[in-house]
Amino acid sequence: MNKPLAHPHLSEPVARFLGGKHQAFIDGKWVDAVSGKTFETYDPGSGRVIANVAECDAADIDKAVAAARAAFESGPWPRMTGSERARMMWRLAELIEKHAAELAELEGLNNGKPVANVGNVDLMLSCETLRYTAGWATKITGETIALSTAPTMHAFTLREPIGVVGQIIPWNSPIMMACWKIAPVLATGCTTVLKPAEQTPLTALRLAQLLQEAGVPDGVVNVVPGFGPTAGAAIAAHPGIDKVAFTGSGEVGRLIIQAAAGNLKKVSLELGGKSPVIVFPDADIDVAVPGAARAIFTNSGQVCAAGSRLYAHTRVFDKIIAGVAAEAKKIRIGHPLTEGTQMGPLVSKEQLERVSGYISQGESDGALVVTGGDRIGKEGYFIEPTILTDTNPEMSVVREEIFGPVLCAIRFDDSDLDEIAKEANRTMYGLAGSVWTRDLSIAHKMVRKIRAGTVGVNIHSSIDPALPFGGFKQSGWGREKGRDVLDLYTETKSVVMAL
Ligand code: NAI
Ligand code: MG
Repeated sequence: MNKPLAHPHLSEPVARFLGGKHQAFIDGKWVDAVSGKTFETYDPGSGRVIANVAECDAADIDKAVAAARAAFESGPWPRMTGSERARMMWRLAELIEKHAAELAELEGLNNGKPVANVGNVDLMLSCETLRYTAGWATKITGETIALSTAPTMHAFTLREPIGVVGQIIPWNSPIMMACWKIAPVLATGCTTVLKPAEQTPLTALRLAQLLQEAGVPDGVVNVVPGFGPTAGAAIAAHPGIDKVAFTGSGEVGRLIIQAAAGNLKKVSLELGGKSPVIVFPDADIDVAVPGAARAIFTNSGQVCAAGSRLYAHTRVFDKIIAGVAAEAKKIRIGHPLTEGTQMGPLVSKEQLERVSGYISQGESDGALVVTGGDRIGKEGYFIEPTILTDTNPEMSVVREEIFGPVLCAIRFDDSDLDEIAKEANRTMYGLAGSVWTRDLSIAHKMVRKIRAGTVGVNIHSSIDPALPFGGFKQSGWGREKGRDVLDLYTETKSVVMAL
């Protein structure tokens, strides 16, 4: 491991941002929390506090919802054309690119991702999602309908923005999650109250400054940092919110559904996964090995679609495991701001304890640690990329989402695709999966058998703004991105005219 940066050298823009106040962004204004409270946010690479942030709760959510409602119903926003909204989204993407170095550094510092990865993946996908979704802003249309029972009447549908949205996002890709959530709001003409995760509030606040610079009217996007059980719960329960979009744990997903029942607000959920990576004996090993390693070790395994269960045919199992273990050892782990770092720390002490706890539990249940397993250093929340074998399907390491760089490798010697798929599908989740083979017939058959929202062939979970993303089973409700996301942010109005 590279020497951790105890005192990261910050660029001037990041130092300036950190030196400022970190208030909530409500109705286009920067305001303290009503309670006056703040909370500390950390650099997970050193464990040090880097900023104090306004701690919003129900009173602030009330203010933000009132601002979002007013912006939805009056002022410039409802009068704007799709073209004007799209132009604003492109401007925002350009501003993100203009400030990419600063945003990447800030994200690395607050979340722990290596700065280069933020730029190449998170910021790129943030901008491309804004641009792709902007294209839909001018194409939100209904249909002309031929009525079955009254053919002489004129009938058509309109698609109208769903209204005020509440959006609760996690910490694993903070600015990208914010952009993925804001894009359909802006494209459809909704307004939003967005709560970043308490671990990583900073880039969402910087993004709010850029939204303002891009010309997004006051009240359209409100950013309210705060904790889940207070600010988050107030969003989920708020009677003035028409729809809530959540990304995070299944546990909180359930709470959101319960809270949403009050005013029957619409709910979309992007929850976790325990996605299988299935390597057949004919797979190209040189492709499958780095692919399987990337599937689990990217972003220190803190990825909802991570390929955390590796099923490899017994003929190639040892080769694959040795290959993935070698890849794990090659990864340069270090402070996210150190040049050349490929893997940073986990996001928080809590997450380090959770992931370490899973590994110990796996070991005491009889799993074998092939590589990794330990915390690295005493400063920051670093953990080694880890591979476990000799697991069984009942173990928590196999059943539950670990959300860390921990891979369970499982051997199969079956050639019956139904049996292989049955094992792969033996999970409450259904977010993603991948199949590694050169046999077209196996590939197509397996794609159909895997019960998951995204299936890769010789690639694990490629993310693209044009591709719908979401889960089967307990991995969620609804699809974000692509054209599908418009369904979550619009209502259909049927119009009949007796001529
Ligand atoms: P979490 O689900 O508690 O947090 C995600 C977001 O929900 C945060 O903004 C949080 O403030 C908010 N939240 C928490 N409690 C809430 C409540 N009662 N009402 C409304 N909002 C609430 O996730 P956490 O605790 O950070 O991580 C726990 C596990 O969840 C991880 O180990 C991982 O397995 C999973 N997870 C999955 C993610 C995904 O992308 N699908 C992202 C983050 C976590
Ligand atoms: Mg939680």
